[in-house]
Formats: sequence, C-alpha cells, structure tokens
Amino acid sequence: MSPAVFKKLPIAVLISGTGRSLQNLIKKIDEGTLDCEIKLVISSSKNAKGLQYAEMANIPLITIERREYETEEGFSEAVFRECTALDVKIIVMAGYLKLLHIPDEYLSRVVNIHPSLIPAFCGKGFYGNVVHEKALEYGVKISGCTVHFVNNEYDRGPVIVQKVVDVHEDDTAQTLNDRVFYEAECIAYPEALQLIAEGRVRLEGRKVCIDPPKNLLPE
Ligand code: GRF
Repeated sequence: MSPAVFKKLPIAVLISGTGRSLQNLIKKIDEGTLDCEIKLVISSSKNAKGLQYAEMANIPLITIERREYETEEGFSEAVFRECTALDVKIIVMAGYLKLLHIPDEYLSRVVNIHPSLIPAFCGKGFYGNVVHEKALEYGVKISGCTVHFVNNEYDRGPVIVQKVVDVHEDDTAQTLNDRVFYEAECIAYPEALQLIAEGRVRLEGRKVCIDPPKNLLPE
C-alpha cells in the first residue's frame, strides 16, 4: 500500500524549550512551502519559551508534564491520546527532551531531528551543545543534522533526510550549533515533512525510500 497523500498533513509539534524548530515550521507553512497543518503544540514544560510561537500563530497548545505521571507509559499515553483525539497523522518532535514510549500504531508516525549526522554523536545524553562539543573534540570536518523516524531506541529510527555543514577550525559548540540549525535543520525538517505530506516516503525494513513526485509518474 502506498503512503497517503495529504493536501495539508495534520501534525502535532512537541517542544520542550526555545521552539526554534516550531517557529521555522510555522514560517514555512505561512510561506506556503510546507503542506502541513499544526493541529496542536504539546510542551513538556509550561515554561517553554517556544509556547509563545504557538500562541502568536493561534495554534492550540497544551502542557503535559512528566512529573504528573507515575510511569513513562502513562505519560506517553497522555501525549498520544491528545494527538489521536485530533486525528493527527504525524507527531513532530522539535527540541522535545522527554522520552516517549511509542505504541505500535505510532511507529513510523513520530519524527525527530537530531543535530548530528546519525549514527555519529547520538544516543542517550547527546542533546543540545553536548552534541557539538563532542563533534569538535573528535575533530570531524563535517557535521549536520538528521531527520528520522522515532522508535523505542534513542536516535536509532530510520533516517529520512540528512544535511551536511562544514566544521570550521575556530568553531565553538555554539557557532557549530547555529550553523547546523540555520543552514541544515531549517531546510531538512520542512523537506522531510513535505515528502511525507506528498506520500513519497516509503519504508523498506529500516531503509527509507523517497519516491518521485506523484504527478511525474507515468500514466
Ligand atoms: C535542535 O538542535 C534540534 O536538533 C534538537 O533540538 C534543537 C532545537 O530545539 N532536537 P528548539 O526548537 O530550539 O527548542
């Protein structure tokens, strides 16, 4: 069965912090280059700065805090319940720092962006500037970002899109963070979501295949 094509792919965006990725997705939708509708923003903290972008764009927002739940499963169920209620097709983690237990029906329906070229500099504990510090310590010449499906192992889900940036000799973790974010992530995340919206992302085992645009297929 080929993946569904959406005029506007209904998504939920999960945030924990500054919400730069959310802001970028809202901008691309407003510009008409990303065929998604953000049905809901869920924050893991009521103090997340990124909530302001949802407010400004009049997107429904809720906060679901881990500490309100005894177990990770209970917490995860609460998040997925809200998404299911709004018929969300894809859940977009955008700087979301909580671990979610992904139920079977949401495998291949949750995506994340990581600020390195997976499988380098990823896994438990690799988030924020730690990723870039480790890349600089190692002395890599290129870095970048990875958009991937989320499964129940840290940063191990199938890779959808990767973008590369150069690493400069005088980089700090922050300058590399900024380059990866603005030159790679801001392009890669909308690109991956647009491919999903167009029904062009197909999984073969753990490999993601990108099909040609539907309107260019022969009759
Ligand atoms: C990005 O570096 C992204 O790779 C990671 O979280 C950061 C964005 O967080 N997943 P935010 O959107 O600024 O909160």
